[in-house]
Parts: sequence; C-alpha cells; structure tokens
Amino acid sequence: MLHHLVFLFGMSLVAREIFAFTSCYSNGQIANYYFCNLTEVPPVPNNTVILWLSFNKIRQVNASSFPLLEQLLILEIGTQFDFPVTIGKAAFRNLPNLQNLDLGDNKILHLDPDAFVELSNVHTLQLYHNSLEESILEEDYLRDMISLEYLDLSKNKIKRLRPHRLFYRLKSLQIVNLENNKIPILCEGNLASFQGKLFTLFILNSNKLYYSVSMDWAKCGNPFKNIALDTLDLGGNGWGVDIMRHFCTAVNGTSIIFLKLSNHIMGPGFGFKNLKDPDQDTFAGLARSGVRLLDISHGSIFSLNPYVFQSLGDLELLNLHNNKVNQIQKQAFFGLGNLGTLNLSYNILGELYDYIFEGLQNVMHIDLKQNHIGVIAENSFRDLRKLKLVDLRDNAIKTLPSFPAMITLHLSDNKLASVDNKKINATFLILERNRLENLGVLHILLQVPDVKYILLRQNRLSYCVKTVNVIENNQLVYLDLGENMLKLVWDRGLCLDVFWALSKLEVLHLNNNYLTTLPQGIFSGLTSLNRLNLASNLLSYLSPGVFPESLKTLNMSENQLLSPALELFMTLSILDITNNRFFCDCTLNTWTAWLNQTNVTLAGSENDTYCVLPPFFTRVPLSSVALDGCNEDELQKPLQFSLFIFTSVTLIMSLTAVIIFSHFRGTCFVWYKTIKGALLKERKQAIDTSTYKYDAYLCYSSKDFEWVQNSLIKHLDSQYSEKNRFTLCFEERDFLPGEEQITNIRDAIWNSRKTICIVTRQFLKDGWCVEAFNFAQSRYFCDLKDVLIMVLVGSLSQYQLMKYKPIRVFVQRSQYMQWPEDHQDVDWFLNNLSHQILKEKKVQKKSTVIEMQTVRTIS
Ligand SMILES: *[C@@H]1O[C@H](CO)[C@@H](O)[C@H](O)[C@H]1NC(C)=O
Ligand SMILES: *[C@@H]1O[C@H](CO)[C@@H](O)[C@H](O)[C@H]1NC(C)=O
Ligand SMILES: *[C@@H]1O[C@H](CO)[C@@H](O)[C@H](O)[C@H]1NC(C)=O
Ligand SMILES: *[C@@H]1O[C@H](CO)[C@@H](O)[C@H](O)[C@H]1NC(C)=O
Ligand SMILES: *[C@@H]1O[C@H](CO)[C@@H](O)[C@H](O)[C@H]1NC(C)=O
Ligand SMILES: *[C@@H]1O[C@H](CO)[C@@H](O)[C@H](O)[C@H]1NC(C)=O
Ligand SMILES: *[C@@H]1O[C@H](CO)[C@@H](O)[C@H](O)[C@H]1NC(C)=O
Ligand SMILES: *[C@@H]1O[C@H](CO)[C@@H](O)[C@H](O)[C@H]1NC(C)=O
Ligand SMILES: *[C@@H]1O[C@H](CO)[C@@H](O)[C@H](O)[C@H]1NC(C)=O
Ligand SMILES: *[C@@H]1O[C@H](CO)[C@@H](O)[C@H](O)[C@H]1NC(C)=O
Repeated sequence: MLHHLVFLFGMSLVAREIFAFTSCYSNGQIANYYFCNLTEVPPVPNNTVILWLSFNKIRQVNASSFPLLEQLLILEIGTQFDFPVTIGKAAFRNLPNLQNLDLGDNKILHLDPDAFVELSNVHTLQLYHNSLEESILEEDYLRDMISLEYLDLSKNKIKRLRPHRLFYRLKSLQIVNLENNKIPILCEGNLASFQGKLFTLFILNSNKLYYSVSMDWAKCGNPFKNIALDTLDLGGNGWGVDIMRHFCTAVNGTSIIFLKLSNHIMGPGFGFKNLKDPDQDTFAGLARSGVRLLDISHGSIFSLNPYVFQSLGDLELLNLHNNKVNQIQKQAFFGLGNLGTLNLSYNILGELYDYIFEGLQNVMHIDLKQNHIGVIAENSFRDLRKLKLVDLRDNAIKTLPSFPAMITLHLSDNKLASVDNKKINATFLILERNRLENLGVLHILLQVPDVKYILLRQNRLSYCVKTVNVIENNQLVYLDLGENMLKLVWDRGLCLDVFWALSKLEVLHLNNNYLTTLPQGIFSGLTSLNRLNLASNLLSYLSPGVFPESLKTLNMSENQLLSPALELFMTLSILDITNNRFFCDCTLNTWTAWLNQTNVTLAGSENDTYCVLPPFFTRVPLSSVALDGCNEDELQKPLQFSLFIFTSVTLIMSLTAVIIFSHFRGTCFVWYKTIKGALLKERKQAIDTSTYKYDAYLCYSSKDFEWVQNSLIKHLDSQYSEKNRFTLCFEERDFLPGEEQITNIRDAIWNSRKTICIVTRQFLKDGWCVEAFNFAQSRYFCDLKDVLIMVLVGSLSQYQLMKYKPIRVFVQRSQYMQWPEDHQDVDWFLNNLSHQILKEKKVQKKSTVIEMQTVRTIS
C-alpha cells in the first residue's frame, strides 16, 4: 500500500515528464503501456479500442482485471517479464467485442479451462512461446471462439496433434501455426475435426515430423484426408528422399497449392554420396494434388535427375534456391510445361548445356544468380520464347550465348570483356561490374533493338574503338556509366560523339570518372536529358552552356568547383553542390544572395556546401559566410579594373590612331603566328613533364583571384580548355587544405618549373605573396635556377616596387613583364609568357656574395 502511495505521489509530481519520455499513457482510444513495470491491468477509459500491455510484470489476469470495455478490439498481454502468467476463469468476459488477443511469449502460461469463455468475436489468438502442451488442442479451451480465423501455437510443447471435436464448429479457422513444436507423427484420422476445411496456411515446420519414428506408412494413411490446403509448410523437419516420397504418396489426392519443403536434407551435397538426390518417384505422389508452387530451397540437392518433376504438370514456380545443384540431367525439367518461374539461385552450376532448359517452353523468369557459371552453350536459352527475365548476376561468364527477346537481362558481376549485340534483345541491360574496357561497347549495345536502360557502372571503360555508329533515333532513356575511367577516353579525344544520337536519354550517370574537364560539346544531342550525375569527379571549371537546356537535376557533389558561373544553374530544379572547394571571396556574394532566394532545391545539408579558401573560411558553410569586408567599392573592383583597362585602351587608341601599324599589330601578330605555324609545321616545344608536377606556380593575392582566373588561368591551364597546354598550380585548387600555408607555397615552388608572381597593389600588401616571391627568388642564388617570372599588373610606381627588398633585387638583375594596357596585345603577351615558362634559364656562377646576403631564405 505504501509502495502504491509512493508510486502515485511520484507520478503526480513528475507525471508530465514521465509521459513525455515513456509510453505509459492512454491517448484517446489507444492505451500504450509497453515497459511500464505494471503488475496488474491499469485503469483505462471505457472507450479504449486498443490496449497494449506487453513487456510488463502482470502475473495474473482474472474476471475482475478489466472493467467493461465494450469498444476494445485489440488486447496485447505478451512478453511479461514475471512468469508464469495465469489467466483465470472468464478473465476477458468484460471485453465482449475483442477481436485480437495476443498472449504470446509469456514463456509459461497457465490457462483456466474457462479462460476464454464468451470471446465469440476473437478472430486472432496468439499463444506462441508459452510452454503449452497438447491439451490446448485436445480440450475445449476455445469452445466459444466461433469467429477464430488465425491460431498461433508456435514454439510450444505440443507433442500430439488431435484437435478436440469442437474445432468442427470453428468454421472460420484458416490459419494454424504449429511451427517449432514436438509433433513426431501425424496420420489419417488425427485431424478428423479439421475435415472439410480449407486452410490458407497450415504450418508444421520444424517438428521433426516422421523423422525419428519408424513409420508404417501403409497403416498411417493420408493425414490430410478431406482437407484442402492453400499453403502447407512442412519444411525444417529433416526430410530426406524417402520420407518425401512416402509423404507425397500418402497425401494422394489432397489439394495443395503451395507446398513448402524448404530446409530439407535431400541430396548428397558436394563431395558426399550417402544421401540420395530426388528422382522421378520422389514427387510422383503429388500428381493429383494440383501443386502450383513448390519450394525445395535450402537443401543439398546436387543433381536434378531426369523426369524428377514429371508429375507436377501444374507447377508454376519451382524454387531450388540454395541447394548444391551442379548437374542438370537431360529431361530434368520434362513435364513442367506450365512453369513460369525457375529459381536456381545460390547453387553451384558451372556450365549450361544446350539441352538444359528443355521442357520449359513457358518459362518467364529464370534466376541463376550466384552460381559458378563460366560457360553457356550457344543455344541454352534460344527456344524459351516466353522469357522476360534472366538473372545471371554473380557468375563467371566471359562470353554470351544467344538470348530470345526479353525485358531484363541481368549480367552484373561477371567477367565479360565484350558483348555481341546480335545475341541480345532486351529492354533492361544490366552489365555492372564486368571487365568491359572499350567504351565502344556502348555503341554496340545501342544496336540492341528494344534497349531503354543500360547500366555499365563499375567496369573499366578507359579507351574507345568504335566498330559501329550509333543508330539514329534510338530509344535509350537511362544510361549509367558511373565509376569507370572516362577521363582516359576523352582526354585522348576518343568517342566524343558517344551521346550525340541519344535524343531520348533522360538520365545519365557519369560520377566517379576522374573527369577534370568536360570535352566541348560532349552533351550536345541530349535534348531530353533531365538528370545528370557528375558527382565525385575532379571538375574545377564548367564552361558556359555546357549543359543541355532540358536539364533539371544536376549532381556536382564532391568536385573541385571554385566559383562557378551562376548562369549554369539557374534553370535547374535540384542541384547538389556539396563538398566542393569553394573560394569564398567577395564575388561569392552574388552566390550567397542567389542561394538565399533561388527556387532551385539544394540537396544535402547546408553545412556540406562550404568554403575551402581563404583559410579562415575553411569549412564554413556558404550560407553563413559573412563577407563583411565586402563593401560596394571592393565588390566592384574587378569591374573597375576592367573599366580602367578599357578606358586606357580607348584613350591610347584615340591618341595613337594615326599609327596604323600599332592599330593592327595584334592582328599582325596573329597572322604572323599562323604563317609561321604553317611554314614551320608548328614545332611545338615538347613539355618535359618528367621532372616537374606543374609547369608553373601562379602566385597572386587571393583578392586578385577573379581577375587572374579570367585573364591568365583560363588561357593557360589545360583543365580549363583543351587548347591550353600548361598544368598550372594555384592556391584555390591545388593547395592541400589543412596544410600550413608556408609548406604549401614551398611545395608549389619546388614542384613547378616556374613561379609566376602577379604583382599588384594587393600583392604587395599580402605578406604571404612577398614571402613566396622571396622564396622563389632564393632558388636563383641557392640552386642557380632562375624560376621566377614577375608580371606587373596595373600602374605601380617604381618607388612602390622598390620599397620591397626581394622585388628590388629581382628588378636589378632581371626584367619583369608588364601586363599590356592595350587589349589587343594580350595574345602576344600570353605567347611571350608561355615562352618564358618553357625557357630553361641557367644562371652564371659568378653571382656575388653580396646578393646572396640580401636574400633572406625561408627556414
Ligand atoms: C521500471 O523499473 C526499472 C527498474 O526497476 C526502472 O529503471 C524504470 O524506469 C521503470 N519504468 C517505469 C516506466 O517506471
Ligand atoms: C464511459 O464513461 C463516461 C464517464 O467517464 C460515462 O459518462 C459514460 O456513460 C461511460 N460509457 C459507457 C458506455 O459506460
Ligand atoms: C484477481 O487478480 C488480482 C491481481 O491481479 C488479485 O488481487 C485478485 O485477488 C484476483 N481476484 C480473484 C477473484 O482471484
Ligand atoms: C491415388 O488415389 C487414386 C484414387 O483415389 C487411385 O486411383 C490411385 O491409385 C492412388 N495413387 C496411389 C499412388 O496410391
Ligand atoms: C529466388 O529465391 C530467392 C530466395 O528465396 C529470392 O530472393 C529471389 O527473389 C527468387 N528469385 C525469383 C526470380 O523469384
Ligand atoms: C526485340 O523484341 C521485341 C519484343 O520484346 C520484338 O518486338 C522485336 O521484334 C525484337 N527484335 C528483334 C530484332 O529480335
Ligand atoms: C550526389 O552524389 C553524391 C555522391 O555520390 C550522393 O551522396 C548524393 O546523395 C547525390 N545527391 C543527390 C541529390 O542525388
Ligand atoms: C535572405 O533573404 C531574406 C529576405 O528574403 C533576408 O531577410 C535575409 O537577410 C537574407 N539572408 C541572407 C544570408 O542574405
Ligand atoms: C520562384 O518561384 C516563384 C513562384 O513560382 C516565382 O514567382 C519566382 O519568380 C521564382 N523565383 C526565381 C528566382 O526564379
Ligand atoms: C550545421 O552546423 C551547425 C554548427 O556546427 C549546427 O548547429 C547545425 O545544426 C548544422 N546544421 C545541419 C543541418 O546539420
């Protein structure tokens, strides 16, 4: 009593908190009392419909446990932690409309003989795992349950199956589960009170039925006499070929639609001889049962003998999954003229011979997944005219036989190195994880008449030899080329037209292909493309107009985008740009503004769309970057700068208009180059890539990045355009995040043939830049290598330059390059710069000691 009071007191104090965190509550018509330490039935509202009392400590339920609950339909009192649980006389009499009673898993259940009186509306009764014995069936416990449909008595201790004659009256009973009991024998007459019934499901699985008794089958008769069965589950009883044959003979004439015999012990397995494989007598007794589905999976059948299924003319599905089938004898499937599905997955078939599927003229699905099939005879499948699906996943197939027209041909995880379009006609072609190397295989597959889906993920596509042209007007809608090596194909300029004729294609996967650039016009022709996956490549730059106008969903996740042009994404509906390497400078303001108001759905968590540079923004989400320093002045800097150049050019042009040569010298230079190229056959200087990772390290202030990218990188770096020939190194793309800045700079200088410093006003203000300049310069004195190229941009007075010692030293010994003020000189300038990058400058050894002292090397 005290206990009770304390409990109630506690409850009233913390009721709200408890109800918030546990399930002990009654909410409208549902009362949920799982795990509430209850020892008796709690009071619930009289309109409760569902009452869950499982996982408590209720040990007794009797006539006074429940108040009148007229609306209660479902009651669970299973899995009580204190047992035995005792159900007293008329315990549920106050629940007149109960339909579903669950008393399962109470380990030990004591039932009063009158426990279930008055439960005339119950249709589901769960009594599993309660240590009940055969008396539950042999006595009349269930006499009032005239509506019972489903009785679950699995996992009990029933040793005999002789249901009381009251079961005659349970006209609705359809499902009886007696799995995992100990019923050793069942003979004609035992189920007398079930006669005349139709069971939708009758489970006698795992009872060791007939297994350990010596049987007189003639005397036993037909245990299911006058009973019809939709599904009869007799698996797990340890039946070998002999018991199987006797049982099938015994049930002569009993209607069984689905016979489940999974987990049997028929067959010797691999390398044994003691147990027999089924033969033509084994299932002969089922001839008059009309079996339509037969499950003999999970056994050790090694060989399918001739005519083994010959008496099963009605069979529609044969499941031989997970046996040890290695041999299929001639005529094994004779008699199976109605079979639609043959399941041979997870066996050990090694070869398929021409005769193998003879007799299966109506088969639609053949599952051969996970065998060891290496060789398939040319005509194994040819005559199966009704085929819709063949699953040959996970075998060792190197060459394909001829297939009839079908819908799905599943060939993943094999060893195919080539395919032949003349042998295939399927809508879905699944060729993932094979050994295909030639992208030309796609052209071949596109010849397949009805193909709409081609999956070539995780092959080794790395070159392309085209043997046929893509047929115009093909129907392909889905193409997966993910996880190949398409970079190697396209870098060599091969098969750039691979998508051109795919005007119906809607989905294209190109993820994980090491792509650093998208070849010009690669997507032209994809006029229906809706979804494009470019995730996990190495793309740092996207040229405008690269995507088809129809594109709606784009995945650019896990690339190396720095600050891509917004126009590319404006027309999309869904965009994934997570895990790129955004460079968060002021220009990104347009981005953040766009992100804030766009209708494009951005995939992934916003924390995954972050900056990598500059360093103090590393991994800061784009959405929360506060670009405070970006007043309008600075925002417009690139604009001002180009305005400045533009005005200067205009000025100079008007001033020097008279000098016509000057006016045309850019054009002259282009002509000169063209003529020289034609005459000298453009002897391009071979770039010696063996010694250096990069041709040049571009060193500039990060505030100038936008300008440097547009003016220099785009015209020099090979990732930006195919016309460019240099591999440049620059901070935004090539520096290792997390590494110290100084280490990054030093590595960049050492790994590059030349270091180009873009000296601007910002450059001089930036300590790192001057340090980098100094370090590059130091190689002149230490390694006698002149690696430094200085490019001066904008107007800086001599005085401003000379203030910085490293620059002073450089200017005194060498010439710097000046960014042209006239726009037409830019080509000439870039050409000049290219020569500088390629030129190897040797230093005379006589450099003075004084000069060496002027240079402070970086430790
Ligand atoms: C049930 O009892 C256990 C231990 O006795 C306790 O940890 C748990 O909080 C109790 N649950 C409820 C709902 O009172
Ligand atoms: C249920 O209880 C309410 C009061 O809580 C009462 O008014 C109502 O009559 C009861 N209904 C039945 C069917 O007993
Ligand atoms: C019914 O069970 C409760 C405990 O749940 C017990 O206190 C009571 O005595 C029982 N009543 C009868 C008549 O056995
Ligand atoms: C099965 O029963 C039919 C008639 O009920 C009978 O003709 C036939 O011989 C029986 N088959 C076997 C194998 O006992
Ligand atoms: C073959 O059987 C396995 C296991 O029962 C199942 O997963 C697979 O879907 C079946 N195949 C077909 C084609 O039904
Ligand atoms: C391919 O199969 C379809 C039916 O799936 C059929 O209409 C077509 O004629 C077949 N084409 C060839 C060349 O076999
Ligand atoms: C984009 O690709 C990445 C990497 O494969 C994946 O994790 C992500 O879910 C994809 N995004 C969308 C929207 O499908
Ligand atoms: C996003 O837009 C709303 C108004 O549309 C504005 O109040 C908010 O400040 C903006 N957020 C950012 C980060 O620009
Ligand atoms: C977003 O959609 C709304 C309604 O469809 C439209 O009014 C608005 O202009 C769209 N905004 C943009 C940026 O396209
Ligand atoms: C993003 O990160 C912040 C800070 O780490 C965290 O509070 C927030 O819940 C995260 N947002 C998402 C959507 O994961």
